[in-house]
This record gives sequence, structure tokens and C-alpha cells, in this order.
Amino acid sequence: MVTFPIVRMRRLRRNETLRRMVRETVITVNDLIYPIFVVPGEKQRQEVPSMPGVFRLSIDELLKELEEVAELGIPAVLLFGIPERKDEMGSEAYDENGIIQRAVRAIKREFPQVIVVTDVCLCEYTSHGHCGIVHEFHGGFEVDNDSTLEVLAKTAVSHASAGADIVAPSDMMDGRVKAIRQALDENGFSHVPIMSYAAKMASAFYGPFREAAESAPQFGDRRGYQMDFANKREAMREIELDIEEGADIVMVKPALAYLDIIAAARQQFDVPIAAYNVSGEYAMVKAAAKMGWLDEDKIVWEILTAIKRAGADLIITYFAKDVARKLKTPLWS
Ligand code: PBG
Repeated sequence: MVTFPIVRMRRLRRNETLRRMVRETVITVNDLIYPIFVVPGEKQRQEVPSMPGVFRLSIDELLKELEEVAELGIPAVLLFGIPERKDEMGSEAYDENGIIQRAVRAIKREFPQVIVVTDVCLCEYTSHGHCGIVHEFHGGFEVDNDSTLEVLAKTAVSHASAGADIVAPSDMMDGRVKAIRQALDENGFSHVPIMSYAAKMASAFYGPFREAAESAPQFGDRRGYQMDFANKREAMREIELDIEEGADIVMVKPALAYLDIIAAARQQFDVPIAAYNVSGEYAMVKAAAKMGWLDEDKIVWEILTAIKRAGADLIITYFAKDVARKLKTPLWS
């Protein structure tokens, strides 16, 4: 028999009700943003092979999806467009009748209460698949920062005039938050917030997304503009600059392998922080669950709780509908 005094930590773990009472981190439906891929055409509902349960939807199907999103109480969706045509300059990105502009108008007409966030980037729209305008440079190529800013700003304004509630630049050009803020303000959209992909790593976790969005670069890679994933101080600097330039919400991406970055950002900055639980993180869970190697529901809950515990206020996740459904079940988690 032990005779020394023991600090009894286990007292409050004895049953689920006690555990619920002292739980420090709780996921709610308000934390969730659901990413959706939109394609041209009608009656299109194409499952992404590496992302089971995720579909590329034409606008008619998108509206059905939104009905479910609204009913589940998910507050926001993040839209990615796959255009009719791609060109060198990514011109469908800012076309008034581009895929995203039409999708936003359709959603806002029928579901005005759902917050529509639009991804502002060129990689889905350029024939070369890079996130900006490509110029020849010393016999090679380079994504030209400053000429890209103009196109991004035009794109953001076109999204806002279609009715987007938040614009989310994901290109990683320098100065784009400022350029977009200025263009929005000049065009009567000073009320539209910017959620910037502030610390976006050059990551292999985006693989399945590039299949879904047909946005893999045709040559080279994105390491010339996305961040080296080895760098935490640089991530803080990127976030700081985006806040200075006017970002309302800053994002860390991917999420799971970057919880230290989320935690450091939470310590250092007072703006809302979003974390993107990206396509590769989704695909890994789905693959292991399909093999019967992991319990999907439990793993998803654990992962999202960890992302929130690290300091994220908002979680962008392909699991949003599943989680929202579970949250409707009393006492689940
Ligand atoms: C770029 C963009 C990417 C993602 C979101 N926006 C891909 C990239 O940078 O190559 C990735 C999201 C995911 O993997 O789920 N427009």
C-alpha cells in the first residue's frame, strides 16, 4: 500500500460526464470552413480519386451541396474554380462570367446566410499551372511578382462584386494583401475582409488538391514563392507582413505537420488564425480508414481538436460536413 500523498489527476477522468466538464478544447460547428471545387457544365458530380467523398461539382450540384451545408449549420464555404479554359495569363480568374463569379452569385442568391470565401490565385487558371504570371528570365522562367499583383487584385474585386463575403489570396506573391486591400477599397468593397494564406509552405501535402483542381505546375515547382517548410521565424515574418498590409484573418497551411507554427502565431499575434487541414491530410486518413487501419471518426476528431488546441480559431477541412453531422448527435466526441 502507498503511504505517500498522491496528486490524484484521475479523479476528473472517471466518466465521460466529468471529462466533458473539464475539457479544455471543444470543436464547434462555428469553427469550420468547408472547401468546395466548382467545375463548368451541368449535373457534374465527379469524385476526386485521391479524395473519396470530395466531389467536383457543377453549379446546379453545388447548390444542392449548399443546402446540406446550410442545414448542418456550417457557417462558411471556400470555393475553388476549375475554369472552362486556361491561358498564359489566367484570364478566366477575373472574368465577370468566370466559374467562380457565377458560382458565388448563384450561392448568394439562394443561401445569403452562408459566408462565401473565394480562393484568389491563378494556378487553376493558367495553362502553365503556376500561381502567377510567368516570364522568361535568364534562359529559365520566373513567376513575376509585381505584374501578378495587378491580376490578383482584379480577381479579388471581381469576386467581391459577384458577392463574395471574404477573399482568400493563396498565391504567396509579396505585397498581394496590400494590393488587394487597396483595390477592394477603391471599388467600394472596403467591408470585404481578407483571409490571407500567410504562412503557406511548399508542401507535398497538396498533391490530391492539384489533381482535384488540375493545377499541378507544368514545369518547375512552387518553391520559388511558397515557403520553405523548415522555417518558423520566416513564417512569423510572413504573417506579420500580411497583418501590416491589412489581412483580417491569417492562415497557416498545411495544419497537421505545422502545429508549432500555429501555436507560435497564436502567441505572437492577436488576429484570428485559420488553419488549413489540406488535401493530403484528408487523403491519408481516408486511405488508412479504407484499409481498416484507423478509426476514421476518432482520428478526425483527434486531429481537429489538436489543430484547435494549437491555437487555430478556424479550421478549413474537407471533413467539415462529417464533423458537423457528428456535432448534431448529442454527447458525441
Ligand atoms: C493554390 C492552393 C493550393 C491549395 C489551396 N490553394 C495548392 C497549391 O498551392 O499548390 C491546397 C489545398 C489542399 O491541398 O487541400 N491555389
